[in-house]
Amino acid sequence: MTIPMTTTASAPVASPRALRNLRAIRAVIGSPALNGATADTLEQLAPDEVNKPRLIEWLREGVAKNERRFEIRSALRAIAHATQPRSYLEIGTRRGWSLAQVLAESPEVEAYSFDWWMQSYGGVDNPGPGFVRDEMHRVAPHHRGAVHFLSGNSHDTLPVFFQEVPIGAAELDDELVLRTGEAAPRMFDLVTVDGDHTALGTWWDLSDVLPYVSIGGALVFDDLVHSADELLGDVPSSRYAQVRTHPEALRPSLLWLWEHLKEVLGGWEFIESFDSIVPIGIAVRMR
Ligand SMILES: C[S@@+](CC[C@H](N)C(=O)[O-])C[C@H]1O[C@@H](n2cnc3c(N)ncnc32)[C@H](O)[C@@H]1O
Repeated sequence: MTIPMTTTASAPVASPRALRNLRAIRAVIGSPALNGATADTLEQLAPDEVNKPRLIEWLREGVAKNERRFEIRSALRAIAHATQPRSYLEIGTRRGWSLAQVLAESPEVEAYSFDWWMQSYGGVDNPGPGFVRDEMHRVAPHHRGAVHFLSGNSHDTLPVFFQEVPIGAAELDDELVLRTGEAAPRMFDLVTVDGDHTALGTWWDLSDVLPYVSIGGALVFDDLVHSADELLGDVPSSRYAQVRTHPEALRPSLLWLWEHLKEVLGGWEFIESFDSIVPIGIAVRMR
């Protein structure tokens, strides 16, 4: 799927719902109260001595200083709180830290988690759907919507889920992905891109999901840094690599991708934080 582009920088019209959502997100994002709630949920999740203490400390420090600050989990919490999404699509779940924030704030949301469950991601065990489901039951007990796990390489599963590719033997083999996609909402109110961290793979993920963000919906893009995993020698794979396209000037930088998105996406508003513990961007579809 190609990303809808326009050369018009300013949006002449916007949906009233989108305007309401944008205002509501801006009003609460980074607020100490929601950051405190984010840290509380993180504390209830299973231990991760490598990554969790520093994040909780950063969030609690902001609360203590009464400062506004946000990173991916607190941003998702704020967006879910402010907009009550009906549907959430997440690329990159790992141990459920981001998913938990959305489920805790929007009890009705129907969630779709795409992950390849790469072993020892972030230096810690990455056990997969059974573990994450148990964690969600524990830390978001009031969540009533379904949570679907679509396991595998997102560069293969997303095109099948959205039926953006001809359905042949390989796609029919992915029956769970195909059937879950058929019963899923047509558009998603909230989407996170935090899976493959190569620039090309991230571009593929973005191109696969951007056309399915609802009007007034938000896309959260994590790790807006001056590098990408190509610099570590990683190369993304997809059985659809031959038919995928990418910007000619694509550089091994997730920050470059974010700046490129801001240039080419017409009718979206952007919120970003570069002094966060990890830089993050949010794009809200206005029309
Ligand atoms: C940065 S972690 C996600 C963190 C999570 N959003 C959070 O807030 O804690 C990235 C996850 O993406 C997964 N991943 C990496 N490449 C992927 C790919 N090509 N397809 C699907 N998942 C992938 C990894 O297994 C890992 O669990």
